[in-house]
Amino acid sequence: MNKKIKIFAISIFALFAVAFFAPKGEMQTKQVETAGQKFKNIKVLTDMPADQMGKVMNQISASLGVNCAFCHVVDQWEKDDKKSKDEAREMMKMTFELNKAHFNNRPEITCNTCHNGHDHPAGAPNLYPAPATERPKQPETKPVADDILAKYVTAIGGKANLDKVTSRHIKASRVEADGTTTEAEELWQKGGKLAVATTYNSKDHGTVVVSEGYDGTTAWKKGANGDIQLKVDEAEQIKRSAQLWTGDLKSIYKQIDYRFFDKLDGREVYILTAQTADNQRDTLYFDVQTGFLVRRTARVGTILGAYIYQFDFADYKDFGGVKIPTTMKFAVPNIRWTRKITEVKNNAPVDDAKFSGK
Ligand code: HEC
Ligand code: HEC
Repeated sequence: MNKKIKIFAISIFALFAVAFFAPKGEMQTKQVETAGQKFKNIKVLTDMPADQMGKVMNQISASLGVNCAFCHVVDQWEKDDKKSKDEAREMMKMTFELNKAHFNNRPEITCNTCHNGHDHPAGAPNLYPAPATERPKQPETKPVADDILAKYVTAIGGKANLDKVTSRHIKASRVEADGTTTEAEELWQKGGKLAVATTYNSKDHGTVVVSEGYDGTTAWKKGANGDIQLKVDEAEQIKRSAQLWTGDLKSIYKQIDYRFFDKLDGREVYILTAQTADNQRDTLYFDVQTGFLVRRTARVGTILGAYIYQFDFADYKDFGGVKIPTTMKFAVPNIRWTRKITEVKNNAPVDDAKFSGK
């Protein structure tokens, strides 16, 4: 993504985030705002919940391997100036019809099923395909989730060392997907609370600080123009990113189950599913040899299939007896970036106001 599109992506997230927001349980009583009601020129996605728009547009872009400008005049989203926008409408209709006719309306066929990252799907099979990767042979005795979690705690330093670090002040840099653009980040962490401030410098917009955090109860996000209202799943991811710093997975999830053994980037991993008290589900990947948590994923349903959040953790380094991943990769459809941690001050005094975004 170039800079302009990126700044725009931040603002569009903010824009979409203003959409309908209902705490769980109120869903039945409140009417969900539809895309047809909220947006200006909707002909196909009329009944889609309006708050899926940002996700779905990014899923479409990622599925075709294009950016927003492929179909839109950026910042004039309602305009129909590009042929591909109308082609996309036809494709949306086709996709929904296929799912309706053949898959009981489940979003089994998505743009990505055919497009797989290309604007023109390849109809002919690849004559030199990459060798198929089969799931490796599963261990004779099924590993136990508790043992994997215990090994993780030992790997990151052990409970005694974890207990000694009560807060952290961290400096990092955020490396954008192009690999060259970076922004300075500052993080404050205490127990399950977290605050992150990212400073963007752009020619057009000057210095913009975007911050987000979790104060133990509520997740929040702020941009240059004040509060950015978070969707339920976005708040959930900020919350989890905060909680994971404690290393105490058993207090975060009420149920953790071993699923299977696989390979990830050539390393052996155990894959576990974990469920929070309010039934949010994550998938956790642990390196078999080192014991480290190397990946967490979460998925949210949309009318065009699962929207996936993926967090990769690598380059664990020791800071005062506790190891933390100094490379964290973040990915959702069409947006990815990497956090590189450069400096960690353990037990630095942190004002609690930081965590509530005040
Ligand atoms: C492959 C084509 C395609 C791409 C790529 C695409 N869009 Fe869209 N977008 C559409 C179509 C088609 C509609 C209208 C849907 C309808 O009529 O139901 C739409 C509608 C919208 C709307 C609603 C506008 C209004 O008020 O009517 C917004 C906002 C939007 N897109 C933003 C984005 C953003 C942001 C991106 C990039 C992340 C993006 N789109 C990428 C095809 C695309
Ligand atoms: C069943 C397979 C299939 C699905 C599902 C599918 N497409 Fe396509 N799409 C195609 C094929 C095949 C073409 C090429 C048609 C051609 O060359 O004339 C195409 C072409 C397009 C084009 C024109 C590309 C260009 O370069 O001008 C757009 C835009 C597009 N698709 C968007 C979408 C979107 C958005 C979705 C999901 C809502 C989607 N498609 C789902 C098969 C599919």
